[in-house]
Amino acid sequence: MSDQTNDEQLISQLNRALGLEMRAEVMYAHYATYVRGIHRLHLKPYFETEASESFVHGNTVRNAINQLGGEAVTVRDAAPIRHTTNYKEMLEESLATEQLAANTYSNILENITENDELHDEIEQIYFAELRSVEEVSQLISS
Ligand SMILES: [Fe+2]
Repeated sequence: MSDQTNDEQLISQLNRALGLEMRAEVMYAHYATYVRGIHRLHLKPYFETEASESFVHGNTVRNAINQLGGEAVTVRDAAPIRHTTNYKEMLEESLATEQLAANTYSNILENITENDELHDEIEQIYFAELRSVEEVSQLISS
């Protein structure tokens, strides 16, 4: 594959990841607002932290797209965000969101073969998504 084609494919994958981060940011901010009941006390700050993390990840990905000479998307991924006030449903949505993010970054990493700095940056995000999958799984089973 030529370098240019490879870069274009990478930019398109990074844009998909960026759209997912923007979706995650909105979803977590929404759930932080609407989570009800006894679990609100710890889940509100948890969702807020996840929203901030998605924002930071999105910034990193956007900068990477710019570095590669690409144009970053400005619209979030179109997958609907399920409105609920039920914390269990929120955690299920969170798990699906984090698993998709982890898979997306895992695929991106396979395509970054000649840019160590970018590989490291994306790998840090990938590890963070894996930690989130682990964390949400524990919250669901507790
Ligand atoms: Fe993320």
